[in-house]
Amino acid sequence: MVQENQNPYTAKSGTETQEQEQIAVERIRQARPKLGEQVVILGHHYQRDAVIQFADFQGDSYKLCQEAAKGAAQYIVFAGVHFMAESAVILGRPDQTVILPSLEAGCPLADMANLAQVETAWQEIETALGSDPVEHVMPITYVNSTAELKAFVGRHGGTVCTSSNARNALTWAFTQREKVFFFPDQHLGRNTGKAMNIPLDEMILWDPFKPQGGLTTTDIQQARIILWDGYCSVHQGFLPSHIDEWRNKHPDSNIIVHPECNMNVVDRADYVGSTEFIIKTIEAAPSGSKWAVGTEIQLVNRLGKRHTDKLVVSLSPITCRCDTMYRITTTALADVLEGLVAGTVINPITVPDDIQRHAKVALDRMLTIPS
Ligand code: 13P
Ligand code: SF4
Repeated sequence: MVQENQNPYTAKSGTETQEQEQIAVERIRQARPKLGEQVVILGHHYQRDAVIQFADFQGDSYKLCQEAAKGAAQYIVFAGVHFMAESAVILGRPDQTVILPSLEAGCPLADMANLAQVETAWQEIETALGSDPVEHVMPITYVNSTAELKAFVGRHGGTVCTSSNARNALTWAFTQREKVFFFPDQHLGRNTGKAMNIPLDEMILWDPFKPQGGLTTTDIQQARIILWDGYCSVHQGFLPSHIDEWRNKHPDSNIIVHPECNMNVVDRADYVGSTEFIIKTIEAAPSGSKWAVGTEIQLVNRLGKRHTDKLVVSLSPITCRCDTMYRITTTALADVLEGLVAGTVINPITVPDDIQRHAKVALDRMLTIPS
């Protein structure tokens, strides 16, 4: 009989000494083969090396959703953050169990919009437009959001998007309705809208802490995209001055950044795209080329080690680490795998059935929109 438990051992800070890591790595090496194909480990690119080495599949959010939807194994151990594990629950089979090795691995960006705030905004948009928003406004939530928001979008005919298919998602939306309500990451929404030639003054920012988002009725009526005032603090660490300094020092280098970066960074970069896009672009680049990368440091360091024939470094002189992703330690991974060997499910992630049903509509739609 499999028992369910919460992991009592996970280090709160996510920091491990080298010795703790070595011990945990050995424990994983012992436990993993005993579980065989009943377990699949999915790992996001921002995960630390010591953990990602055990991932059966590595990917960006889009690719990992595709893997979760294939769902052959009984247990999906998600080395990522909470919204990714929730998406795996929704896309996986009902008899599968999704495990997040540390329940503290959340995404602060995803937490910047909650259902009550979005429902209030929707009602205020309705008042401003004078009619049901579904006649005019397509809600799109970035995958970095709670399952409740994905369900909201599913209920209102919208879609989820990731950083790799945001442009195609917006293109799809504008074939159906004249406006888009995009949450919670303003930067992905703005950068994508700008790439589609939507004027900046037609993309307005909704502040959830102000009445009517801090906007006038005319602002809302004239907007093409209503952007939620959310952001990823990791990607806000990259500044235009970093690009200027880098170009001064290495005029022959390439700048590649994630679309969660601020617009004034994306505008100055040579390339912009999801983590998967960044990996593929650097992989395909000629030997000797130089790359300054505006995304999370674990991935940048890994690319640097993988491509010793190229210079691959962080665009920022300060460390831009996703501290919540970092809470998935090797000890936490060892605990959940040993738990499964012993018949105990530690840290299962669940999503209520009615939320799953509506969120699945929006996630399934996302998977039909190519990256
Ligand atoms: P990707 O979709 O590029 O994997 O990005 C996810 C994420 O959380 C970036 O901060
Ligand atoms: Fe969330 Fe930013 Fe971490 Fe991505 S990098 S998981 S958006 S906090």
